[in-house]
Amino acid sequence: MDIKNRIEVVKGDITKMEVDAIVNAANNSLLGGGGVDGAIHRAAGPELLEECRTLGGCDTGDAKITKGYRLPAKYVIHTVGPIWRGGNYNEPELLKSCYKRSLELARQYNIKTIAFPSISTGAYGYPIEKAVPIAIETVKEELEKSPLPEKVYFVCFTDDVYREYKKYL
Ligand code: AR6
Repeated sequence: MDIKNRIEVVKGDITKMEVDAIVNAANNSLLGGGGVDGAIHRAAGPELLEECRTLGGCDTGDAKITKGYRLPAKYVIHTVGPIWRGGNYNEPELLKSCYKRSLELARQYNIKTIAFPSISTGAYGYPIEKAVPIAIETVKEELEKSPLPEKVYFVCFTDDVYREYKKYL
């Protein structure tokens, strides 16, 4: 299938997505936080935090997988984006790695549908117009390598993020 048909931008709340996996924009502790991380933990229930406690944290740019518990999604892939420090501290490579590692894990678990939030562009301050091309191009590269996942959703919580994705696509 055409790569273009395997990518979709939607507006909404990622915790409501009926997909095999949703991606969480977590922090190195994997023990919860605000933003999308807080929303995912609230919706999944306390069992998610219990499983996260067994994982020993996660490096920036890497990803780890858990079950989805009370979420419609079967799995949560927790990835840790870089904190924006002006752009000269490896931020683009680390952000790219979040998308790449998340999709590698998804393939290992035979995940067919996956939803990403806009990693690092909230509390971590990554400029949205710089993050969107990295998100989209990295996902395209990964989809070209494999028929899995079949479909990737970019879930935008706010209008400005949604507009930026639509503009780029
Ligand atoms: N569904 C989809 N996107 C959402 C949702 C939601 N329910 N809620 C927020 N967003 P952020 P970061 C969007 O701050 O920048 C946490 O405390 C939000 O509008 O969640 O990677 C972690 O524990 C923004 O576009 O993640 C870390 O400490 C995007 O998700 C830190 O924040 C990312 O914003 C990670 O910061």
